[in-house]
Order: sequence, then structure tokens, then C-alpha cells
Amino acid sequence: MKAHTIIGILLLVLMPAGILMHCNKDVVSKTNDKSVYENPEAAIEERVNDLLDRMTLAEKVGQMTQVDYEFLQSEGDIAKYYLGSILSGGNSEPPDITPEGWAGLYDRFQRQALKTRLGIPLLYGVDAVHGHNNVYGAVVFPHNIGLGASGNAELVEEVSRITAKEMKGTGVNWNFAPCVAVPRNERWGRTYEGFGESPELVKTLGAAAVRGLQDDYGRESVVASAKHFVGDGATTNGEDQGNAEISAQELRDIHLPPYITAIEENVGTIMASYSSWNGEKLHGNKFLLTDVLKEELGFEGFIISDYRAIDQLPGDYKEQIAASINAGIDMVMVPDRYREFIALLTENVEEEIISMSRIDDAVRRILRIKFKLGVFEHPLTDKSLTALVGSEEHRAVGRQAVRESVVLLKNSNDVLPLSTDINRIHVAGKNADDIGNQCGGWTIAWQGSSGDITPGTTILEGIREAVSDGAEVTYSRDGSGAAGADIGIVVIGETPYAEFEGDRESLALDTEDIATINRVKDTGIPVVVVLISGRPMIVEPELENWDAFLAAWLPGTEGAGIADVIFGEYNPTGKLPHTWPRTIDQIPINYGDPDYDPLFPYGFGLSY
Ligand code: BGC
Ligand code: BGC
Repeated sequence: MKAHTIIGILLLVLMPAGILMHCNKDVVSKTNDKSVYENPEAAIEERVNDLLDRMTLAEKVGQMTQVDYEFLQSEGDIAKYYLGSILSGGNSEPPDITPEGWAGLYDRFQRQALKTRLGIPLLYGVDAVHGHNNVYGAVVFPHNIGLGASGNAELVEEVSRITAKEMKGTGVNWNFAPCVAVPRNERWGRTYEGFGESPELVKTLGAAAVRGLQDDYGRESVVASAKHFVGDGATTNGEDQGNAEISAQELRDIHLPPYITAIEENVGTIMASYSSWNGEKLHGNKFLLTDVLKEELGFEGFIISDYRAIDQLPGDYKEQIAASINAGIDMVMVPDRYREFIALLTENVEEEIISMSRIDDAVRRILRIKFKLGVFEHPLTDKSLTALVGSEEHRAVGRQAVRESVVLLKNSNDVLPLSTDINRIHVAGKNADDIGNQCGGWTIAWQGSSGDITPGTTILEGIREAVSDGAEVTYSRDGSGAAGADIGIVVIGETPYAEFEGDRESLALDTEDIATINRVKDTGIPVVVVLISGRPMIVEPELENWDAFLAAWLPGTEGAGIADVIFGEYNPTGKLPHTWPRTIDQIPINYGDPDYDPLFPYGFGLSY
């Protein structure tokens, strides 16, 4: 090769680099001395402003975009589109759902984000709504309704702290929790995701959950998301994603208070609700999202949309994007058509349908949370936490939570507590020996599922562990073979569901459960009924045949906590977080209603 050709090639190679060095100060400053935004000593607002000043429109739009991992067309898209966040929806877990598998996925994605010009790390969001529930081997706590029955804010804080720690053990740094809905109609399939029907209870426990999850943004903490703003628990007939036909006064008195306390605890994010308020979808409601939440209540974090929820607004996609962002949504859980979303959000800005100041406000809020969380300083998984997922210590707290969540509703002739020296116990029922059923929805899969889905102790196993050596525990799912036992324990109720799939017109016990109970009862022995359910169910007229009745909600993986109550290892303290109706027609029935005549009132619960 001739000398001038070599020089020519060298020039061609070097020139663009030279131009880049010259024009793009960011690249230079990033490699040489640290810029303000990269300096952990600088004040957060200074870091936010510094970074925002450097960002192009494409980078800003990317920050406002959240994609579900299952729809990510290539991992390179994270860097290519400067994505601000990835989520794993209820069904989009990595192929390997062990803690190590999750951590591996998180780190790979985070490395993509770190490769970008400005290196803005991702928030990775999941629904760890009762422990880090989509991770195999994580401790699964009682769903919020059970924690509501405990009424114990310190317990909720501890449970949330452990959830955050297990999440961080897999890298994941953003939790779409707590659900601070105030469910007022138990037909609603999401009743169990809330702490209870009383705003006072939800306020206290929701605040405790935020405190435990965010833990002042320490290394073992995650960003919380109070959801679903607002009035999700108020829809007519308890319809999921339905319409809350209530006055502004009722909205403020019952459904808004938990957000006020969550904001006092500095909750980082709030998720908008799919539902409508008097016919208008929340995702387009500027009054509630901006005037009330951001201005009146002073919320400084960011608002995330719900999954594909902006698509339910009127108009075409471009109009839906404009309406939701202009109403106050800061980041959109797209979750699938992100290329289209990015193109149309950009068009909306270029055509000034969305102002640059609205975009800057949204991005400023997102960056603020990322800086607070410390993800710029510690973007990758802290592997020292990975081994703690599902540890004995965490399970012990789970077991304590189960004990405190059980509500004793009936105990004729003091049939409970049982002696561990009892001769023979017969256990029966479809929920007696099924981890999946006792965990409920949002466990390993979106809807949850029956069977041996994750390690834990079933209720039957807990009973077997509790009794003394000489005592015999027999089991049949259908209640057959109970004759000759001293007592029967029948574990009945609902099987897993989530969201709208759990909406019900009837809350009657199913025929299988009634037949199982009767088979045991017909042998003449006393019967203890344990109900596994996401809400009160209609137990009349059967209840009169039961000697004892325990509401155990959806206890999670630590079934031994139920045995602790049955054998008096723990004297029950749980109190009803929902009014227990006599008939389905009584629903909606809530504490404070006129002509209040429930089967068991709100707050009811016996002890030994
Ligand atoms: C639910 C949210 C959840 C989101 C992500 C939605 O369908 O309403 O509660 O956080 O999905 O899984
Ligand atoms: C996802 C959930 C989401 C739901 C919304 C499911 O496919 O896994 O996370 O909440 O869709 O409809």
C-alpha cells in the first residue's frame, strides 16, 4: 500500500473521532473528569438539572418509556432507544426464575443502559406484592388482606423490608407496591391486594409498606409505587377497571387518604388506575393527576401508567399518548409497541401538542428518583444479597405474619386450641396441601396456580410438624376416611386468580368444599374449617355445622403459622379487615353504613 493511501485511511479513521471529540463535550468530560450529574456528592437537584441539560429529545422520550421484557424485540433496543425502564409483568419472568436467573437478566439489561452516551441506568419494575413472588424459592408473605387483619404496622414494615432485600438480591429495584386501594365491594377480584375496607387501616399499613420498601433509599431498598390512583376500590359492582360513581367528597374521604400518607413517606412513584371516576378514565384526568396529586398534595416523584392503560383513552394512539402525558403521566408502561410509542411521543413534542416543559418535568421527576435510589452509583446486583432470598430468617418473619393474619371467627365449646398430644387428626380439603392455592394470585405466574409451584410449608405439613410424636395425622382431599379421628380440619375456599379474572357475582362456597366438610362432619367428629380466600365468602347456612372457623386469607408459603394458631402456639389476634356479609346481596357492606347488620362486623376476631 502506498504511503499516501495509508495516510488517507488514517485520516478517514481519525477525522470523525476528532470531530466528535471537538463537538461532543459530554463524551470528553465523561471520560476525563466527572460531570456534576455523575458526582454523588452533588445535590440531587443539581445532578438532575445537569443531566437534563445534556439530554436530547430522544433520550428524554426514552426515559419516559417502560417496556415489558417479554416484548423487548432485541436487548440492543435498551441502548438504541435510551429506555428508562423495563418491567417484568406477571407472566414475563426470565427462563430461569431462580434468584441467580433473575439477577443475570437484570445485570444484562442494566449493562445495555450503561452503554449509552450518558449511561443513565434503568429502573427494573416487578409486582413483588407479597414478597418477591415471581422468584422460585423466595419467601411468599400473606397477601395484603391478611396483613390488614394483623393490623400491625411494624410487621408490615418488616415484611416490606425483607421483600425489598430479596428484590435487590436479584437486582430488581422498583416494586409496583403497595396497593393502597380501599376495596369497598368484595366482588372485586383485587380485594386481597388491599389491606382492608377502612381508609384508616390502609393509610397506616400503606405508609408502613412504603417505609419498609424504600428504607430511606439505603442499599437494600427499592422504589415503591402506591397504586392504583385513585378510587380503584370504589367501582360500581366491584368491577375491575370499572367506573367509580362517587362524589368528590367520598373520593377524598375514603380513597385519597392513603396517598397522602404515602407521600408523607416520600413514596417514589404512584401508578395511575385503569378505572374511571364518574365516567372519565383516570389516565386522562389532569385534575386528579396534576392538580390534586402533584400540586395540591405536593407529590415530587413520578406517575407511572398502568399496563397498556393509556390505550383505553379515546382517540388514536398518538392522541392517547398526548392526553395521558398532558394529564400528568410521567412514564408509560407501554408495554409492547414501544417503537411506535417513541415515534408518536416525539411527534407530539415536535408538533407542540405536548410542551417541552411537560417533557422536562416528567424526565426531571424520573431522574430524581433514580438519583435518590443510588442506582447511578450501584447499578448492578449486589450479589451478597442473592443468597438471602428465601432464607430461614425471612421465612420466620413470614410465619409470624401468617400467625398474626389468621382471624378466629367461631370457636364453639372452646374446641380450639388443639392439644399436640391428640390421638388422631384428620385433615381434608382442596387447600390443605397445596402451596399454590395458599399463595393465591401473583405467585410465580400472574394468575397464580395450584400445585407445587415454589418451596414452602403447606398447611397440612405445618400440622404434621406441630403434633407430638405419638399423634397421628391422616389426610384425604375429599374428606373420606375421617371416621375414628378425634377432630377434622378442613381447609377450603378459593383457588388462585388475579385482577379481573377474580371478579365474582357469587361468593358462595363451591360444592366440592361443602361435600368435603359434610363427609367429615357425618362421621360425628368436631370440624374446624379453615378458609383460604382473598375476601370474605358467604358461609351461611353451613357455618352452624362447623365447630370452629378460621379465616386464613392467602397466607403464602409459610403454612406452619396456621398450625401455630390451631395448636395455641399463638393466641389469635387477627381482626377482620372487611365486614363479613351474611349474603351476597348485602355487598357492598362497609363499616359505618346505615342499617349495618353483617354476619361479623369489621374488626371482629376472637382469641382463646
Ligand atoms: C396491574 C398492575 C400491575 C401491572 C404490571 C397491571 O395489569 O393493574 O397492578 O402493577 O399490571 O404487572
Ligand atoms: C401481565 C400482567 C398484567 C396483565 C394486564 C398480563 O399479561 O403479565 O403483568 O397485569 O397482563 O392485563
